[in-house]
Amino acid sequence: MNAVTQTESTDFSLIDDLGDAPNESTAAAEHDDMLSPRFYTTDFAAFNDIDVSLVKDEWDEMMSEFEADANAKHFRRDAGYDREVNVANYDPALYDELLHFFISSLTSEFSGCILYADIKKNIQNEDVHKLMGYMSRDEARHAGFINKALKDFDRDVDMGYLKKAKDYTFFKPKFIHYATYLSEKIGYARYITIFRQLEKHPENKFHPIFDWFKDWCNDEFRHGEAFALIIRADPKLTQGRNKLWIKFFQLAVFATMYVRDHTRPEMNKAFGFDPTDYDYRVFDITLECCKQCFPVLLDINNPAFRSGLETLRKINVRNTAARKRGGIIGHLTQWGGKLQGVATFAKLYFLPTIKNPLPKKVRLKPIW
Ligand SMILES: [Fe+2]
Ligand SMILES: [Fe+2]
Repeated sequence: MNAVTQTESTDFSLIDDLGDAPNESTAAAEHDDMLSPRFYTTDFAAFNDIDVSLVKDEWDEMMSEFEADANAKHFRRDAGYDREVNVANYDPALYDELLHFFISSLTSEFSGCILYADIKKNIQNEDVHKLMGYMSRDEARHAGFINKALKDFDRDVDMGYLKKAKDYTFFKPKFIHYATYLSEKIGYARYITIFRQLEKHPENKFHPIFDWFKDWCNDEFRHGEAFALIIRADPKLTQGRNKLWIKFFQLAVFATMYVRDHTRPEMNKAFGFDPTDYDYRVFDITLECCKQCFPVLLDINNPAFRSGLETLRKINVRNTAARKRGGIIGHLTQWGGKLQGVATFAKLYFLPTIKNPLPKKVRLKPIW
């Protein structure tokens, strides 16, 4: 089957805002729902006031790593990549899932790029200004590299359009710190877990981009380090009611990932992953990292936690089917599912957490 026939089979039918976007992949990236990556904006003045003096030694060490720019030449395709890439040979279901995976990953990389660049543009604070420049540099490379992979599908995203057209969600700075910290560390954990799996099972490497994940994930790890230091630079961010927010964001990020990863059965099969096992491996690594800056951690081994995530997954399966079905029954099913989803999330939220005394030294090394 050729690539054109396959792209025609791609299911964009659940996206209702295909309106003005220049093509379907850009519309898919522009579309917001519970599981899709969003674009964020924040209170720039608060970023301007960040004072990193409490963690200055570790901050300087991290900044010299950013400056050294170990991945300056990493995001270039070589002859091996070009030889291996052949999207026309994929089974249509795998083709669709990989395409959506690339679009979702690009949106999330580009979201970081835009946010960091916007913060940089709007502040004078020397430490943070410099940091945001380095991080938006990295994310621009990541997004650009994925977009080149999408070009092989004839499905690249118009990033200029996306920047202007996609909705921006306002998050208070502390929410940006918690959410971005988690998304950077979970990004690291996801990429390294895929890389390690393919190291063990090279026969499962169905796209050359996965060879790039090892060095790539070190960028994400370092971005996470930056937010860990920002969080630890202000002791208030890990005390009092903020612990409740920390718990909330861990749960929101983990639950989203769990539900979304289970919607990609073909990719999981191709990697040789059981999606539940993959997700818990990623959660384990992420929580190991979280010990550097979060005073409370989710207890992911509590059977009630595991069954709660399963309930959320099943609700999502039902809701997706109801949305496809449409009509009054479809709408009612979706509403019922949403209420049940909120109740399940609340139950998960009130499960006991694990207390974590914060270490004196914040920084970690990407050892996984
Ligand atoms: Fe990235
Ligand atoms: Fe990142």
